[in-house]
Amino acid sequence: MTRAYSISVDDVSGERARVNEDLDQVDISRIIKLDELELAEVGLRDVRLKILAASGEHNVDHAALADTVNIAELRGGKIYPGNSALGEVTEVGAEVTKFKTGDIVITHCNGGPDQFGFPKYIWAYDTPDSIGWYSEEAVVGDWQIVHAPLDCGLNLWEIAALPLRAPTAYHLWRRAEGIYRVKVPAERQSTLNVMGFGGGVSELFLMLARAKGHNAFFCSGSPERRKALEAHGIVPIDQMAFNRFASRDDSKAFVKEVRGLTDGEGMHIICDMLRGPVFAAGFAATARQGVIVSAGWQLARSVDYNSAAASIKQLTLDHTHFETLYGVEAATELYGSVFKPTIHKEIYAFEDLPRAMMEMHEATQTGIPIIRIAKEMPESVASLIP
Ligand SMILES: NC(=O)c1ccc[n+]([C@@H]2O[C@H](COP(=O)([O-])OP(=O)(O)OC[C@H]3O[C@@H](n4cnc5c(N)ncnc54)[C@H](OP(=O)(O)O)[C@@H]3O)[C@@H](O)[C@H]2O)c1
Repeated sequence: MTRAYSISVDDVSGERARVNEDLDQVDISRIIKLDELELAEVGLRDVRLKILAASGEHNVDHAALADTVNIAELRGGKIYPGNSALGEVTEVGAEVTKFKTGDIVITHCNGGPDQFGFPKYIWAYDTPDSIGWYSEEAVVGDWQIVHAPLDCGLNLWEIAALPLRAPTAYHLWRRAEGIYRVKVPAERQSTLNVMGFGGGVSELFLMLARAKGHNAFFCSGSPERRKALEAHGIVPIDQMAFNRFASRDDSKAFVKEVRGLTDGEGMHIICDMLRGPVFAAGFAATARQGVIVSAGWQLARSVDYNSAAASIKQLTLDHTHFETLYGVEAATELYGSVFKPTIHKEIYAFEDLPRAMMEMHEATQTGIPIIRIAKEMPESVASLIP
């Protein structure tokens, strides 16, 4: 048995009933519960992990709120969440060749690749029977883990921040850049204006843009996160100055600001993980031939836009999900050189994970939230703990 967090449909419904279905009042720390779980036997191609640290991920917020789909209900009443973790290998199956006891690894959340490697499902979310890693121990297939790049220059918490968000950003970036380049080749325009709206994935997306020499802009509501990105040469835009695009006038003022920052050009590439009012503001801020990419729908699933305006401006909207297995390995190569994540100032204890998720929900954290799961850390990572 291992201690593991779960989200049950009864707790989701109970909390919704308590707040009369007003999702703004939901306290998700009352829904994510410390539970127990019987681990599967270690099969021939399986690996047993001691989970050392995990990052708070927004899909867990969606699972607890049931605001997009009621995933606990769809999965039969309960899920064990957590699809980004760093762990130590404690046992390997007889046919495992790439990993050995003592290795430090990171997980990825591609829960079932299609014929071209793209995920049909996400692990610990909609992959049938998948068990997540907000737990003290786990048993995973060897295809689900990658060696952690311990010598990349990041500390342990920074490495633990990246397993889900970095491959997502990597995939978004290579799609956005590729699509833009179909329309405007590099010899016609080498430097692009790239903007991301608040959140961990967008921050990493902008680091990729910056590493390629583009102008990068971060439109976020958090002064701490804007300041952290500014240190990487990424220009901050205060989203609160435009009331998170609550009215048409706010969006108009935002577009004016963007034109001012970009010599009247607008944004060639935009990463919008939120949708809702953010989508409309981004749509209006695009340059001709612009590309808007998204792998998220944090505020709304549907978008509405003027197709004629999009055609006339030659805009492309692209929808991505998580990376392929190869892409996950490639994204991991960029830890420390390109990806230098901002970490929330508190490292949460395992028992404080529900509070970490609530604070992520409230968007009050100063960076990506990290939960330290193991009290005792292996000697191999001791020097990486700040
Ligand atoms: N498909 C995939 O593979 C995939 C992978 C990762 C994430 N996602 C999804 O993408 C979305 C973002 O993920 P993430 O990891 O980047 O999230 P995150 O790090 O948790 O950040 C979310 C950000 O949203 C911003 N925000 C919160 N409320 C807002 C509001 N009312 N209006 C505008 N902005 C608001 C906040 O930034 P500021 O306060 O700084 O503005 C917050 O930091 C989530 O829905 C997540 O589930 C999908």
